[in-house]
Amino acid sequence: MSPLPPTADHAWLPPDPGHDLGSRAVAIDATGPLGETVRAELVALTARHGGSVSSPEGATVVLMTADRAADAGIDLEALEEVGDIPDDGFALVRAAGNVAVVGGSDRGLLYGFHHVRRAGLDLDAPDGVEVDAPAHPIRMLDHWDNVAVHPVMGRVERGYSGGSLFYDDGRLRPDLTRVGHYARLLASVGINRVALNNVNVHAAEARLLTDRLHDVVRLAEVFRPQGITVYLSVSFSSPMTLGGLPTADPLEESVQSWWRAAVDRVYDAIPDFGGFVVKADSEGQPGPFGYGRTHGDGANMLGRALAPHGGEVFWRAFVYNHQQDWRDRSTDRARAAYDHFAPLDGTFDDNVILQVKHGPMDFQVREPVSPVIGAVPRTRLALELQVTQEYTGQQRHACYLAPMWSQVLGFPFGDDAAPSVSQLVAGAAGAAADASAEAHSGGVVAVSNVGADEHWTGHPFAQANLYALGRLAWDPDLSPEGILDEWLGATFDDDAVRDAARSIMTGSWQTYESYTAPLGVGWMVRPGHHYGPDVDGYEYTPWGTYHFADRDGIGVDRSVATGTGYAGLYPEPWASRYERPETTPDELLLFFHHVPYTHRLHSGKTVIQHIYDSHFEGVERVEEMVAAWEAVADRAPSAVAQRVGERLAEQLRSAVEWRDQINTYFLRKSGIPDEQGRTIY
Ligand code: GCU
Repeated sequence: MSPLPPTADHAWLPPDPGHDLGSRAVAIDATGPLGETVRAELVALTARHGGSVSSPEGATVVLMTADRAADAGIDLEALEEVGDIPDDGFALVRAAGNVAVVGGSDRGLLYGFHHVRRAGLDLDAPDGVEVDAPAHPIRMLDHWDNVAVHPVMGRVERGYSGGSLFYDDGRLRPDLTRVGHYARLLASVGINRVALNNVNVHAAEARLLTDRLHDVVRLAEVFRPQGITVYLSVSFSSPMTLGGLPTADPLEESVQSWWRAAVDRVYDAIPDFGGFVVKADSEGQPGPFGYGRTHGDGANMLGRALAPHGGEVFWRAFVYNHQQDWRDRSTDRARAAYDHFAPLDGTFDDNVILQVKHGPMDFQVREPVSPVIGAVPRTRLALELQVTQEYTGQQRHACYLAPMWSQVLGFPFGDDAAPSVSQLVAGAAGAAADASAEAHSGGVVAVSNVGADEHWTGHPFAQANLYALGRLAWDPDLSPEGILDEWLGATFDDDAVRDAARSIMTGSWQTYESYTAPLGVGWMVRPGHHYGPDVDGYEYTPWGTYHFADRDGIGVDRSVATGTGYAGLYPEPWASRYERPETTPDELLLFFHHVPYTHRLHSGKTVIQHIYDSHFEGVERVEEMVAAWEAVADRAPSAVAQRVGERLAEQLRSAVEWRDQINTYFLRKSGIPDEQGRTIY
């Protein structure tokens, strides 16, 4: 095993930030592992910037938890006026040029510290109390890391950052220093949960639950001081594969007691263990269907083993038939999660969270929001996003995803007054249904993009996606542009470099969209690894991912009137809007409808001309990105400059390949020439 060398890339936490806080007299009144973490941060920061960690008397800044605030003479009445500080939240109490950072809990204190480190103290602000708390109680990253190298998926499934940060050569890395830095990065943006292994649980990884539990203990030790609870992906058939039972039927007493005993052992070793992530009956993974049981039966059985310890189950809704016959036009993969899970609403236990991918298919560059999110008001929900860029350029292409996530989180499930996706996953619908908000709260889960790479994320700019994920999970109303500016400000110290990086990343999601599959139809990627164009790569496969292009037109008819009925799974006004091509937004037209190439979009262009134009424009935009970076590269740290330069060169090569394959394919299919007579092969 090769040791993981320390990296010189500190991502958005270089040693120097936090001058405003570090140059003051600062006091901390807190105990426990998180109190110690904040104390150590303050000692390092003040040593670097000339301040000091002192007693509360005479300190300009005092950090403490709410339960200590009364003793310290903090005006709790003022706090009460703004309501209790939520658990992971914090209050900034300003009085006469001093600031108290009061955490609603130990985690809240840690997040309050990171807030003032990042944003400064603003000592000139008027006296008063400001409370900041996360919109979503659950802010989680799932790692698709394998302990043992998988023959097809390698060390990290869909990982583009040089292998696993945790495991190497079939073992946990002996030196977890980098994991500690990673945990600190995550804490600084408010992440509070991490799942430690791939949702496809192979043989070695299954044993993290049993005889490899010591590895989980060690990882929990590294994440704990940063307020991050650890979870395991488990295989539904563990009672058979690990326990030697003849069945994994969730209604069998022997199976239930096997899980109870396994869970008890985990909590003996890790009292603050979080729980399980489960991919069941999906893409070959075992599940309750194998025993004629429902997903409610399966999830609740695990939930009941975890409940006595306060643990949770994240049960994934990514369930569909991956062996469908491409000739069968009645089966629509987009419907699958809804058809499986909407009828189960209200049957899941309180510690089961249904984890739903943001779109109905699979993390394509453009999809409508999953209708499941609006269909299960009595179920706790987690919205699943993908920070790892499986379908958005695999961290070889610059593609800033915050604008997409921001749109998804803000999507209103109904008319403009209806709750947004963010409010629904935070628990709004459940709270309205029975007023016990706590029992219904959920949040955001995302697949991590981090690995052993010296820049953490392969493409240095992909760090911005990780940063933005945390910030949006905390506050979905933050603007993607503002988050980008925060990240640029923390990451680069040269203004010209920041400006160039900003110009490259702004609009990069739409740029990627413009040179890949058009108008929401998705796929058209190389099967298996999903990089680069292959228009018909999935067309005659069992995966349920088709575009149906012929000589006359393209797209999937998902209308109620003539198609699969998928459009009708949304509340109004969306159901009516998506039902007809005339009212479907251009960017989703081919997701919902099969139209002739001559169909005119709202933009005024025909579909075929849009395909040509967007593909030519996409490449031109990437050429501008390359030029923008070349102009400043010598001002950036050399390792970053080189890496970004290499990645942009590959992005340009790949965008040209996409452009030429897509345009050529559609010229040949349709026979309709480009109005501008550009070169198409
Ligand atoms: C995608 C991805 C798989 C992954 C799956 C999932 O299909 O390609 O590698 O296992 O999503 O989310 O479970």
